[in-house]
Amino acid sequence: MLILMAASAEALRWTRRDYEQLLLAAPGEPLARCAMVALCGGSLAGFAVASLLQQETVAEVDGLVVDQYYRGQGIGSALIGASMAWAANAGASGVRLEVRASNAAAIALYRRHGFCQVGIRRAYYSAPAEDALLMQAPLFPTAPV
Ligand SMILES: CC(C)(COP(=O)(O)OP(=O)(O)OC[C@H]1O[C@@H](n2cnc3c(N)ncnc32)[C@H](O)[C@@H]1OP(=O)(O)O)[C@@H](O)C(=O)NCCC(=O)NCCS
Repeated sequence: MLILMAASAEALRWTRRDYEQLLLAAPGEPLARCAMVALCGGSLAGFAVASLLQQETVAEVDGLVVDQYYRGQGIGSALIGASMAWAANAGASGVRLEVRASNAAAIALYRRHGFCQVGIRRAYYSAPAEDALLMQAPLFPTAPV
């Protein structure tokens, strides 16, 4: 995950410690999290991370990266779809995220999955400094399996 993230300028900059906290979350803590991974031939082709605070009704996609060699094959779409399904199952009524205003590929992907821009955070990102678009998509309850 760290290698994939480091290779992508648009991805969130997380430390090893951030990932350890994510994957080894203490049982009973009020934050539900999921990490979706896409494997191709035994290699990590991409991943998405999402979270839901117990007192909130909207889940957040914290990160999404597809290895550049595997892009354009539907993997990003599958990962965001799986994250949204997880959030719906966890009881969320919507999913939100932030994306660099210049990240046309990610914005197009999110729009295809029903996300709309609901706000903007000026100079939210650094290196390079850039606005973040806030995007949100509604979720609908999933039928019990
Ligand atoms: C954004 C990203 C996750 C897309 O992953 P991907 O596996 O290539 O995406 P998919 O093949 O599933 O494409 C799904 C849709 O996304 C959009 N899309 C993907 N790449 C695109 C591009 N280069 N230009 C425009 N639209 C693009 C299209 O709408 C596409 O649907 P279509 O192929 O039917 O037109 C990938 O480019 C990536 O990892 N980028 C760097 C990290 C990043 O920006 N993460 C998001 C941070 S908020």
